[in-house]
Amino acid sequence: MASKIGHETQPHFSPHQRIRNMSETASPCDGRPEMTQLHPPPQTAANVESLEAYQAMYNESITDPDGFWSRMGKELVTWHREFDTVSHGSFAEGDIAWYLGGELNVSVNCLDRHLKTRGDKVALIWEGDEPGDVRKFTYRELHREVCKLASGMRDAGVKAGECVALYMPMVPEAIFAMLACARLGAPHSVVFAGFSADALRDRILDAGCRVVMTADQGVRGGRRTNLKKTVDEALLECPGVDLVIVHQRTGETGPDVPFVAGRDVYMADLMAKARPYCVPAVRNAEDTLFVLYTSGSTGRPKGVLHTSAGYLVWAMMTHKYTFDLRDDDVFACMADIGWITGHTYNCYGPLANGATSMLFESTPLYPDAGRYWDVVERHGVTQLYTAPTAIRALMKYGSEPVQKYDTSSLRVLGTVGEPIAPLAWNWYNEVVGAKQCTIVDTYWQTETGGHMLTALAGVTPTKPGSATLPFFGVKPAIVEPDTGNVIEGNEVEGVLVMQQPWPGMCRTVLGDHQRYLNTYMTAYSGNYFTGDGAIRDMDGYYWITGRVDDVVNVSGHRLGTAEIEAAVVNHDACVEAAAIGIPHELKGQDIFVYVILHNGYEPSDDLAHELRDAVKEGIGSFAKPAASNIVFVEGLPKTRSGKLMRRILRLIATGEESRLGDVSTLADPAVVPAIIAAVKAKR
Ligand code: WTA
Repeated sequence: MASKIGHETQPHFSPHQRIRNMSETASPCDGRPEMTQLHPPPQTAANVESLEAYQAMYNESITDPDGFWSRMGKELVTWHREFDTVSHGSFAEGDIAWYLGGELNVSVNCLDRHLKTRGDKVALIWEGDEPGDVRKFTYRELHREVCKLASGMRDAGVKAGECVALYMPMVPEAIFAMLACARLGAPHSVVFAGFSADALRDRILDAGCRVVMTADQGVRGGRRTNLKKTVDEALLECPGVDLVIVHQRTGETGPDVPFVAGRDVYMADLMAKARPYCVPAVRNAEDTLFVLYTSGSTGRPKGVLHTSAGYLVWAMMTHKYTFDLRDDDVFACMADIGWITGHTYNCYGPLANGATSMLFESTPLYPDAGRYWDVVERHGVTQLYTAPTAIRALMKYGSEPVQKYDTSSLRVLGTVGEPIAPLAWNWYNEVVGAKQCTIVDTYWQTETGGHMLTALAGVTPTKPGSATLPFFGVKPAIVEPDTGNVIEGNEVEGVLVMQQPWPGMCRTVLGDHQRYLNTYMTAYSGNYFTGDGAIRDMDGYYWITGRVDDVVNVSGHRLGTAEIEAAVVNHDACVEAAAIGIPHELKGQDIFVYVILHNGYEPSDDLAHELRDAVKEGIGSFAKPAASNIVFVEGLPKTRSGKLMRRILRLIATGEESRLGDVSTLADPAVVPAIIAAVKAKR
C-alpha cells in the first residue's frame, strides 16, 4: 500500500504467499464441464499438417532448442551477417541472449526484403474512426514513408541507441515512426495515448528521451483528445526533450493544439525535405529494438526491454503459426500500438511476414455494435484478433449486429489479454465464427514478446476458455506456490512458470537489471515466473486462473495496485490507500480502493470523485475506479509486522466476509468490522 507516514517497502512476491483463487475442490477440474469439451479445428492449416506434426516440431524445440532456433533464425530473418551462437545464458544468471554475432536491421526485415517479391502488395490497411475512412499502403509505399521519416529524423540528429518516445494515436504514421526508429537503430518507447501527462512524463524521464513523436489530436469513438497539449504539459518537467515531431491527424490549430516554435516540427515538413531512401543502421542481434512500460506488483511501471533478432523471430513465428498465415490474408489485430499486442501483431509480426496488416483507429461500438463486422466485410478480414472485454461488450447486443454483415471471410478468431469465460468463448465461436473458425486463446505478456500458450489455428483442438498448449520452445511448468516444487501430472493447479528461455523474452528492465531478476527470476529460482496461476487439466491443457500477485487487469489494461495507490495518495486529503481488483462483469476486473483520510477531511461523494480524478491525473482515464468503489476507512487490516492483508480487503469488497476466518492475529482486529460497515454503507 502507499502511505505518506513512515516508509514502507513493498515486498516482492514471495513463494510463501498463498496463491489466490486456488480451487477448493479435490481436483481443480471438478465442476468445469468446459474442460471436457474438445472442439476439433474446423479447417486444416497451411503451415503445420496435423496435431502430430505440431507435437513432433514442439518436441524438437524442447529437446534441441539450439538446432531448432538456428534453423528458424536462418529461415525467417534476413541477416546482414549471420549469427555464430544460437543461445546464451540462463534464467538463474538472468543473462539471456540469442543469435550472438548476428547483425540485422528490423525495418529491412519488415520492408526492404519484400520489395522485389511483394512491393505492390498492401502492407497496411488503416480504417479510421469514421467507417470507410480508409488509407492503404503497399510495401513499396510504406518503405518510402518510413525512409523519408527516418531520413528526416537522422537530419534532425536522432542517433542509433537513443530512445525515442512515441505518444501516438492509431494512425499509419505511428507505424512509420516505429519502423523509422528501427531503421535508425533508435529504440522506441511507445506510451499508450490514453496515459496522462504525469504518466507520460515519468516514462520520458525514465528512458531519458530527447525526442518525442506525437500527433495534434487523437480521434476515437467520435471524440477528440488533445494529445499535443498533454505532451506539452508532460514536457514542462522534461528539460531533456528538445525535439517534438508532430503528425497532424486533424490539422486543428488554436489553444487545444499548442506549438512551440524551435522545439516542435510537423512530421510532414520533416518528411518533405528528407531523402526518400534511408540507409538502415546495422544492428547487433542483441541491440535494443524497443522499451515498453508495463505495470508490476510493486513500485513504478517498468521499462521492459526487447532486443532485435530474438524478438523478430518470435513475432514472426507466433504470427505465422498461431494464425495459420497465408499469402492473401487480411490480418486484423484490433489492439492499440501502445500495448505489446500492437507492437507484435500490428507491426512487427505481420510486416516481417510480408502480410497485410490492419490498423483500426476506432472502437468496437462506434458508431454501433456492428463496427467490427462491417470492417470484416469491407476488407475481407481473415483473422480477427481482439480481447475478451470487447467480446463481452459486443455479446450484450446479441447476434443481430453480426448477422447484418457478411463475415464469411473469417478463418481465425483470436483473443488475448485476460482469461475468456466459456460463455464469451462460445458466443465468439458460434455467433461470430459460425463454428467455421478456430478460436485461438493466446496467453502471453509484455515480457514474453509474443504468444506462449495458444492453439494453432487449424491444428489444435480447442476448449472454451483454455489457452490450450505451449508454443514451440515454450516449456511451461506448474509449481507449488509455497515450496516452488514442480507439480507433475495432470489435473493440477498452481503457479505458472517457464523452464526454458525462448528467443522473444525480454532481456532486462531498463536501467534496473536487479528489478528484472527480482521480478522474474528469483521467486522460483531457475524458472521464469509469470505472475499467473494456472490449471493443467486431464488432457494437459492449460487454463489461466489470473494473476497471483498485485497486478489488476481492467478491460485488458494491466495495472499495478501500487501505482493506483500512489496516484490516490497524491491527493492532499489522503494519508494512506490500499487498492485491490474485484471481479467485474464487463471489464473482467475493476479497481476498488480503501482510503484513510487526514484529520480535518470528512468522507464525502465529492471527495471520492476528487480521488478518482487523482487516478485519472496520475495514470489516465482508463484506470479510473468508479467513485462508488472508493471507500473511506479509519484503518487497514495489517499483521503485527505491518503487512497489509489484501485477501481480507478483497473478501470484504466482494461481500464474502463470511469467508474471512480468524482475524484475531491482526495488529488491530477491530478494523475489520469497521471496514465491513463502511463497505456496506456504500452499497
Ligand atoms: C493476462 C498482454 C488469460 C495474464 C499480451 C498476463 C491472459 C497478463 C491472457 C499480461 C489469456 C494475457 N488468458 N490471461 N489469453 N493473455 N493474459 O503484459 O494475467 O498487458 O500475465 O500482455 O494478461 O498482460 P500484458
